[in-house]
Amino acid sequence: MCGIVGCSGTSDAIHPVMEGLARLEYRGYDSAGISYRKDDKILNHKKEGKLQNLKDLLEDIKPASTTAIGHTRWATHGKVNDTNAHPHSNDKLSIVHNGIIENANALREFLKSEGMEFLSETDSEVFLNLLTLNFNKTKDLKQSIIETFKKIEGNSAFLILNKENHLLYSIKRSAPLVCGVNEKTSDVFVSSDPYALVGFTSKIYFPEDEVLCELDFTKANELVQFYELDGSTSKRFKIQEKEVKLDVVSKGKFEHFMLKEIHEQPELIKKLTKIYFSESNKEQLARIGKESFPYVHLAACGTALHAGLIIKNYLEKYTQMRVHSDFASEFRYKSPKLNSDELGLFISQSGETADTLACQELCAENKLKNYSIVNTEGSTLYRNCDENLLIHAGIEIGVASTKAFTQQVLVGNLLAKAFANKLSEKEVIGEFELLSDKIKNLLAQEEKIKNIAREIYQHQGFIFTGRGIQFPIALEGALKLKEIAYVHAEGYAAGELKHGPISLIDENMVNIAIITPDLYDKTLSNAEEVKARQGILLVVGEEGNKELEEMSDFFIGLDFEGLDDTVPVLTNIVLQLLSYHIAKLKGTDIDKPRNLAKSVTVE
Ligand code: F6R
Repeated sequence: MCGIVGCSGTSDAIHPVMEGLARLEYRGYDSAGISYRKDDKILNHKKEGKLQNLKDLLEDIKPASTTAIGHTRWATHGKVNDTNAHPHSNDKLSIVHNGIIENANALREFLKSEGMEFLSETDSEVFLNLLTLNFNKTKDLKQSIIETFKKIEGNSAFLILNKENHLLYSIKRSAPLVCGVNEKTSDVFVSSDPYALVGFTSKIYFPEDEVLCELDFTKANELVQFYELDGSTSKRFKIQEKEVKLDVVSKGKFEHFMLKEIHEQPELIKKLTKIYFSESNKEQLARIGKESFPYVHLAACGTALHAGLIIKNYLEKYTQMRVHSDFASEFRYKSPKLNSDELGLFISQSGETADTLACQELCAENKLKNYSIVNTEGSTLYRNCDENLLIHAGIEIGVASTKAFTQQVLVGNLLAKAFANKLSEKEVIGEFELLSDKIKNLLAQEEKIKNIAREIYQHQGFIFTGRGIQFPIALEGALKLKEIAYVHAEGYAAGELKHGPISLIDENMVNIAIITPDLYDKTLSNAEEVKARQGILLVVGEEGNKELEEMSDFFIGLDFEGLDDTVPVLTNIVLQLLSYHIAKLKGTDIDKPRNLAKSVTVE
């Protein structure tokens, strides 16, 4: 969600902060801002809109400082404008914040009664004002941060800069925040994502919740000090010293990251089997093969949940395990019955999704074993789970998830087969390679999908339908279309149409029906029902199927020959391309669709 970056040291701090913000911009992009110390003053520049607007402003100002903090915002409280942008600052202090202060209204009233003035509509300014009030009284910044943080309810991460000196402070509760140091230069850093610090730091610290971090580049050895909320020294942090390379993230020949990421899928699929069946990794699947659980609780959000629904199908097909799956935001508040011999399974690209993390915590509290299927090594989910199955998708920049979904599904397939001890290396490699080739063929037909997009993009309503393992694909297809093309789209189990949604069908409604050999006749009759009501029918089905071709207004034929479990991956890629081309025709901001953020770190 919001990106936080801070730096303090002996040389320029503005460049690493702005570079870090640029790397995090895909996570939140309503507005951006930077604060820095200059001649014992705090200077603050903020701009609504993309980071480029702030960059343009700084071009003229040419700020110079060795201590700076910055932020890219995804608005929770208050409109998107310059004033509500972070940092929030006064003549003594400046803060950036990610998260939600749940008791902000009550605290605001109290602070107003104490004579504090508010310039913005944000909950973040409540923290600044309460901190300032405490600091005015105690003159002890460290203690004031602790006292202020104790009064704040909800999950948040803060980074604090002060006018008097070069010290940076950070603290968090259930929101991502790391500290970093460069051991050569002694420069110190804070960020909401280690990715922002790659290349700047040699050591990353992962503090636990409610640990106050004090970063002081002048300290002889320990540049970061950690404190508990009672002021005592804390040991609740982990260190990562592994050299991390910055993934080269450029769009290459593609117009958008999303399209590039769609096209990366054939290679990533091939790479996945190489990784999982390499000598060093085989052991993980063998270890999983020895595990057995009567019940699996699967929680995730959005696209990751749709991948989870397919994984549920695999688990039910191959194992005797019963599987309960839910939106993470629902699961956590439903009082699920959790037993210590069961498994918590969490799917996530970022590994930082607040609701998914909360479900994992709930399962851990109830002593369940926790597995993740995750993209980001070192993320909070990764650190908190007992077993992590990495999806090896590489960094995903397009806000609309594409390649991560595919890799999640395929890793879930490996997991289900490993549990069932039905993991034949030869068969899996055979099917995944075949899938990869078929995706390549499909990508070569992109022009056809583009032409269909041109025919339908002006319609206002889209209903995606599928049955069985294709039902999650209908959900995912609809989600992708609405998030990047801003049109109304819904995914339904095809058999549910006549229980209500069919009343929406008329000559303006587009039904995108996924009709594969599995449950063919049933799904076909649902499509007939749409046709009978003059709906516009786009069928994604098996190539060469004349029946489907004749009944549909538009037909996209796919070669399923030799594929078994992986058919939904192939049908989904058609829908990824279709959404992309509809969005392109509509002229939306495909990689950074309005109102969205890549990593949802608030509830
Ligand atoms: C949609 C999309 C979101 C994410 C969801 C979970 O394209 O990307 O629905 O799938 O916010 O995010 P992760 O996977 O990071 O937990």
